[in-house]
Amino acid sequence: MKKQWWHGKCAYQIYPKSFCDSNGDGIGDLQGIISKLDYLKDLGADILWLSPIYVSPLADQGYDIADYYNIDPRFGTLADMDELIAEAKKRDMDIVMDLVVNHCSDEHEWFRKACEDPDGQYGKYFYIEDMKDGKGPCNWRSYFGGPVWEPLPGHPDKCYLHVFHKKQPDLNWENPKLREEIYTMIRWWLDRGLAGFRIDAILNIKKVLPFKDYPVDREDGLSSVHNMLHEAKGVGDFLGEMRDRAFAPYDAFTVGEVFDEKEEDLPAFIGDGGYFSSMFDFAETVFGSSENGWQDAGGITPDQYRDCVFATQKKVDQIGFISNIIENHDEPRGVSRYIPEGDACPASKKMLATVYFLVKGLPWIYQGQELGMENVHFSSIEEVDDISSIDNYRVAIEAGATPEEALDAVRRFSRDNARTPFQWTAGENAGFTTGTPWLRVNPNYTEINQADEAKDPDSVLHYYRRLTRLRKDPAYAETLVWGGFTPWLQDRPGVMAYLRTSEKQTILVMANYQREPQVLPLPENSGYKVLLNNYSSVKETPEGLALEGYQAVVLELEK
Ligand code: GLC
Ligand code: CA
Repeated sequence: MKKQWWHGKCAYQIYPKSFCDSNGDGIGDLQGIISKLDYLKDLGADILWLSPIYVSPLADQGYDIADYYNIDPRFGTLADMDELIAEAKKRDMDIVMDLVVNHCSDEHEWFRKACEDPDGQYGKYFYIEDMKDGKGPCNWRSYFGGPVWEPLPGHPDKCYLHVFHKKQPDLNWENPKLREEIYTMIRWWLDRGLAGFRIDAILNIKKVLPFKDYPVDREDGLSSVHNMLHEAKGVGDFLGEMRDRAFAPYDAFTVGEVFDEKEEDLPAFIGDGGYFSSMFDFAETVFGSSENGWQDAGGITPDQYRDCVFATQKKVDQIGFISNIIENHDEPRGVSRYIPEGDACPASKKMLATVYFLVKGLPWIYQGQELGMENVHFSSIEEVDDISSIDNYRVAIEAGATPEEALDAVRRFSRDNARTPFQWTAGENAGFTTGTPWLRVNPNYTEINQADEAKDPDSVLHYYRRLTRLRKDPAYAETLVWGGFTPWLQDRPGVMAYLRTSEKQTILVMANYQREPQVLPLPENSGYKVLLNNYSSVKETPEGLALEGYQAVVLELEK
């Protein structure tokens, strides 16, 4: 694996709508982000990914783009964006935007023109088909519920494809003209000084054609779009072309949102010269998920979590650099999902931070994670904004769940858990806005907020600062960034431990992933130096280290 400029960095995801509101309209914005750059720099964030801020009706919170060449006025202006890129550069930080090109918005000019003239140039930018008996040409179910076909406005005999929401018509990647438009747009942004992109839902760009039905898998008579995706071949041709035409000339950093990749495809995706620089590890994210919906999805135990992470480490090994997360804007908060119920506390949050951050790959922090922000306890479905949560609620009810059970599933999995405003202070609206926040602030902001944690040297926030500093410390970076990965005590329940090794040194990351204390052995004859500890000390016994509940230590082993 060739070393890359970004390997030793730390990445951070901003969900702009919920990060910081500079003008009191209740919506976070670019000037808000600029005002917090020093905070992010101090945390140790180097690469900042912004969820979409392009012009959009925000039907799916900006993942429905109406103009790829401009900023939505709610977030700011192009001048603000240029300022953000420049201010970031001054601090040696890089800005990465979201690239949403499986679909655009139904309010995009291309789609409006396609509706005016479905047989014209822009009609070919989409998948537009004739309806038969009031139905589209196949039975796929969209990710957000209902059929993927919707009548084309103004043409009741025709319909268009949308694998996500009906306000997100799919772009036709088979059309070389469309692909050319996309590459031109990507280069336009890179010319503005952007470092690269996070690439949204990208495997969906390849469809199995001609359209056909797949086995019905729910009572709605439809079939999950996953069934089609499993069969689709040839996405690599598009991805390789996009890399060559748009990313490679700029040495852009790209991270793919890739689910369900086949193991043999890994080298093509993230090996040297692969389609992307990196892609996210979703092994633990999707663990326990069910095709039936959230009401049937299970939790994940500490041992299962460890096994998912280790399986990815083994699979990726020397091939490339995976991107490690515990949450993002589509998932519940990591501390609410990966820490057993009732046990989320500063110690366990720091432990989780330690174990996911120091495995091999690029560590990502999602906004608020560094404070230990938690899921919200919604008291009714009316408090939920997210379209996918509302759909999953309906699916649960239709599958026979009671309203309380359906709400419970939403509490566990809702994307709004991660989308509540960033908790800056213990003051009104958590200091996020002087107006009315677009989404209710998590009521726990009086205990969990940035201002208080900044003052407390033992806070989760300060612990994250120590983690980023440790990974970047020239004395350890060779090992923690590029070194090998070997599981330690892998078969012991309630433990997550591993060795990172280079010619220079061996570092042991060892966590007691349970409430009860336990004694864990060190590799034979090892003296050690403590590099990081989420408790103030560590007890030694002849059998090994006696770790407190959720204690995690990072040790440099003496040879
Ligand atoms: C990705 C995004 C998600 C969005 C979807 C459709 O999964 O992360 O937020 O709803 O794509 O663009
Ligand atoms: Ca605002």
